[in-house]
Amino acid sequence: MPDEQEWPRVKSTIYSWLWRSPASNSLVVALAHLSSGDRTLDIGCGPGAAVRQAARIVTKGRAVGVDRSQAMVAIARRRAEGLENVEFEVGAVEALPFPDDTFTVVWTVSAFHHWTDPEAGLEEIRRVLTPGGRLIIVEAQTSGEHGLSAAGAEKLRAELLRHGWVQPVMSRHQKEFVVSAHAR
Ligand SMILES: C[S@@+](CC[C@H](N)C(=O)[O-])C[C@H]1O[C@@H](n2cnc3c(N)ncnc32)[C@H](O)[C@@H]1O
Repeated sequence: MPDEQEWPRVKSTIYSWLWRSPASNSLVVALAHLSSGDRTLDIGCGPGAAVRQAARIVTKGRAVGVDRSQAMVAIARRRAEGLENVEFEVGAVEALPFPDDTFTVVWTVSAFHHWTDPEAGLEEIRRVLTPGGRLIIVEAQTSGEHGLSAAGAEKLRAELLRHGWVQPVMSRHQKEFVVSAHAR
């Protein structure tokens, strides 16, 4: 369901100017260790900086972004004009508009804390990931609501383990927590 109330056009435009190339987006692309044939999905991609960076590496694959805000997707599409292996779709993590086993790597940056149903979202990600595919969740380190605390990141890692994800790992970076795991 589109998220025009939370991320309407004006808020999306301001966000996209303030956060033109967030360090967290470069971090996730570096951590993904992409190969040219990877098929990547960025959930809650916002203006699409990480998708554009990935597209330069996955030249034989595809770099896809999905966001439940139509305004964000419009901005992301405009900024990616001219890049051939890039796509942006409107959609929510709880009901991803992609077939099973589509992507080799899925990530989400500064968006997990917005999800309405994290458990349903993680199930959907597992559905669209190929077996052995990788999930990377990046969130700001915070004790407030716009990110994760250390305890929250560790809880997320434990949840992934409990739900059958393989080798979930939590790591601390300069300003972010990263929780990653492989699909079975
Ligand atoms: C803080 S922005 C982060 C954007 C981008 N990932 C970045 O790092 O710049 C959060 C984005 O997540 C999107 N979002 C929130 N909940 C979502 C959900 N359940 N499914 C898909 N997108 C969602 C919002 O529309 C918004 O564009």
